[in-house]
Amino acid sequence: MEIRDAVPGDWPAIWPFLRQILADGDTYTLPRHPTEEWARSVWMQEPPGRTVVAVEDDGTVLGSAKFGPNHLGPASHVSTASFMVAPEHAGQGVGRALGEHAVEQARAEGYRAMQFNAVVETNTRAVALWQSLGFEVMTTLPEAFRHPVHGYVGLHIMYRRL
Ligand SMILES: CC(C)(COP(=O)(O)OP(=O)(O)OC[C@H]1O[C@@H](n2cnc3c(N)ncnc32)[C@H](O)[C@@H]1OP(=O)(O)O)[C@@H](O)C(=O)NCCC(=O)NCCS
Repeated sequence: MEIRDAVPGDWPAIWPFLRQILADGDTYTLPRHPTEEWARSVWMQEPPGRTVVAVEDDGTVLGSAKFGPNHLGPASHVSTASFMVAPEHAGQGVGRALGEHAVEQARAEGYRAMQFNAVVETNTRAVALWQSLGFEVMTTLPEAFRHPVHGYVGLHIMYRRL
């Protein structure tokens, strides 16, 4: 598996799993049924943001991540990142590889910390993965997310220094 910068031609491979993950409605604070154009504009970052893809040797896109500044001006030294792995390729280490890559890249670009703004508390796979990469739950916003199965659940703000 290789992780490289995404190019516009990667979008047709990203859109099917991104659309599915948003439609599931249990992990992202984004519209469940966005237009493709809107989703592309959100996911395919322009500098200073970056979007990367994890690809198999045969070119199959397994997952994608985006990262960049979480805030602007005097807070622009704190980065943020988002991750999506194609469900058919989940549980194979792609998320961990993308997470490690984002942390390394953010550090190399001079960011001093990384913040995840809205990790759904029932997303136990993601929470455990981020904790294993050194992120701490700083606080949990109670009932901030309407989960399709569990109803109102908390959103973690997770943070680590780089
Ligand atoms: C969360 C997500 C990015 C993880 O990606 P992934 O490729 O499936 O994760 P990995 O295979 O690298 O596994 C990461 C860890 O989760 C654990 N894990 C795997 N499947 C799991 C499951 N069903 N439940 C709990 N933990 C699980 C693994 O043990 C692994 O830990 P390890 O490396 O110590 O073995 C991916 O599932 C995803 O895109 N989910 C939908 C969108 C999302 O939630 N994004 C993150 C928002 S904060």
